[in-house]
Amino acid sequence: MTNHGDELIYLDHSATSWPKANGVGEAMASAVEAGNPGRGGHRAAREASSIVDSARAALASLLGEDDPRRVVFTSGCTDSVHTAIEGVVRACERVEPGQTPEIVFSAIEHNAVARGVAALVEVGRATSVVVPVDATTRVDPEAVGSACTDRTRLVCVLHASNVTGAVQPIRAIADAVHDKAPNALLLVDAAQSIGVIPVKPHDMGADLVAFGSHKGLRGPAGIGGLWVGERAWPVDGDREGRRIDPVRCGGTGTASEGDAMPDVLPLAFEAGSANVPAIAGLGAAVRRVDLATIASKQQLASELVEALHDRFGARVTVCGRADSGAESLPTIAMNFEGWDCGDLAQVLDASFGIATRAGLHCSPRCHEALGTTQRGGTLRVSLGATTTKADTERLLEALSAVIGSA
Ligand code: ALA
Repeated sequence: MTNHGDELIYLDHSATSWPKANGVGEAMASAVEAGNPGRGGHRAAREASSIVDSARAALASLLGEDDPRRVVFTSGCTDSVHTAIEGVVRACERVEPGQTPEIVFSAIEHNAVARGVAALVEVGRATSVVVPVDATTRVDPEAVGSACTDRTRLVCVLHASNVTGAVQPIRAIADAVHDKAPNALLLVDAAQSIGVIPVKPHDMGADLVAFGSHKGLRGPAGIGGLWVGERAWPVDGDREGRRIDPVRCGGTGTASEGDAMPDVLPLAFEAGSANVPAIAGLGAAVRRVDLATIASKQQLASELVEALHDRFGARVTVCGRADSGAESLPTIAMNFEGWDCGDLAQVLDASFGIATRAGLHCSPRCHEALGTTQRGGTLRVSLGATTTKADTERLLEALSAVIGSA
C-alpha cells in the first residue's frame, strides 16, 4: 500500500465541507473585532449590524423568501432543530394546556431530531410516532399522512438522508401532513441539502426549515439558521396565532424594559450577542453557492456506484439506491464482504490519505432500515463541490488494492 503523505482526498462532505468556499476565512477574520449588532448606535455596532443584515438577506434570497426576518440565526442545524421542536411544544403547552402534543418523524431522521423528541417523551411533554422506511430510505408521503392523528402538532422529515443521500418528496409529504393534520407544522431538516440542491420552503410547503452553514453551503461551523413560515408565526397575527414560542431567552438590545422576549422575528429567537464572525463567513459562503454543479457531482456519484459494482461484484453492497430513478445527493453508503466498515475507513485514511466516514452516522434507524446495524453501519463516501473524477478514481484504486478486484 502507498502512503500518500500529507495529500488529502476528501470524501466526507456529508460530515463537513472541505475546503470552505472562497472568501469565508477572510470574511471571518475581518469580522473578529466587529462590534455587537443592535447594541449601541456607534459605528462599530452599525457595521456589525450591516454584516448580519446582509448575510440574512443573502440566505433569504437563497431560500426564495421575500422577508429576511423569517431567517433566524442559530448556532447550527442541531440548535435549529431543537429550537423548532422545543418551540412548538412550548407553544402547544401555552395554547392547549393539559394536552400532550404528538410528534411524527421518519425513520431516517438524524439523532438531532430523534434524541430531541425522545427527551420530551421521557418527561411526558410529547408522544411520538416513527414512520418506517424500507431499504430505499425513501419516506412515503402516504405513510406520513397515515401516521398523523388529531394530536399531531409537528412532523419532522429530513430533506436528504445523510447516510444514503436519498432526497425526499417533501412537497407530497407536506400536502399529506396538511391534509391529515391541519394543526400540525412540518419541520424540514435541510442539514445535508442546503447549498447542494434547491431548498425553497414555500415550494416545499414547509412550515419550518432547519439548516447549518458548514456542509453544503461550505461556510464555518457553529452557525446555522431556522426559516420560520407563516403558519408557524403569522407576521401580523397576535401571540394566540403563533405555533412556535421562543426557546432561548435573554437580551436582544430591544424592548429591554419587559421580561418577555420581543414579539417580533427574528429577535424572538435570537437572544444574546450574535456570532458575527461566523455570520460573516456564512454570508460569504452563501454568496458563492453554485447549485449548477450538483448535476455533475450526482453523475460522478452514479459513475462511482457503477464502477464499484463492476470492480467488486457481489463483494460490495451499495445501500439505498434501489430505485435509481429517484434523486440522491452524491452520498454513497456501502459495505464490503469480509470487511468491517470502520477498519476499512481507517485503512483508506492511514494508507491512502482518503477521508471517508464509517459507522451509524447518528442515524441508527436508517441503518435498521438498511439492515446494516449488526455490521456497525456502513462506509460512507460523500462527494462535494470540489470532488473530481481523479478523486473517485483514487478511491477505486485504493479499494482494489485493499480488497482485490472481482
Ligand atoms: N451529521 C453529520 C454526518 O452525517 C456529522 O456525518
